[in-house]
Amino acid sequence: VMVSGSGSNLQALIDAIEADTLLQAEIIHVISNRENAFALERAAKHNIPTTVSLLKPYKTDGRGREQYDLDLVQTINELQPDLIVLAGWMHILSEAFLTEVGCDVINLHPALPGQFAGTKAVERAFEAYQRGEIAYSGCMIHHVIPEVDAGDVIVQAIIPMFDDDTLEKFTDRMHQTEHLMIVQAVQQIQLKYKETSHE
Ligand code: GAR
Repeated sequence: VMVSGSGSNLQALIDAIEADTLLQAEIIHVISNRENAFALERAAKHNIPTTVSLLKPYKTDGRGREQYDLDLVQTINELQPDLIVLAGWMHILSEAFLTEVGCDVINLHPALPGQFAGTKAVERAFEAYQRGEIAYSGCMIHHVIPEVDAGDVIVQAIIPMFDDDTLEKFTDRMHQTEHLMIVQAVQQIQLKYKETSHE
């Protein structure tokens, strides 16, 4: 699981595994691109190994973004995961990363397909509602391709918006749905793997 922030979606996966909702799943490692991500504490609390992989030193010493991605993919491939879940990972993964990585990569995005790609999607959706441009928003989990927040959708859900919403209320509603959806998406991938291993 790759994270950058609070890790509430990581927590949803941890809880589902501990509650036996996600059978035969194991989070083997958590990678964060931020040193102070609360997600790291959540992982440590459940004895999940973590790695912090910072881009800044690569920028400072001239190795650059491409080398960062290649080193990251090497770290990941050595861990031999079956699946990478981007759960609030706030870096765009390069085409080189996606070519080299040895497993599926899925991403959680707090908007519907084709809407509000990139950062601050929740805030931008909230503002768009205030301006009367959208009537609802949503969230999705999709396969990762080089285009940002695009790729085949695994699960999606509509999040209603209300006139008396605050950004905080809307964000909370978004997170509650995300926490269910991320578990569903991993379940679906597990089913897909099970079917292909039986072919
Ligand atoms: C989630 O809302 C997720 O949809 C968003 O980051 C948040 C992470 O929350 N991801 C993106 O915006 C990706 N473009 P968390 O750290 O509490 O799981």
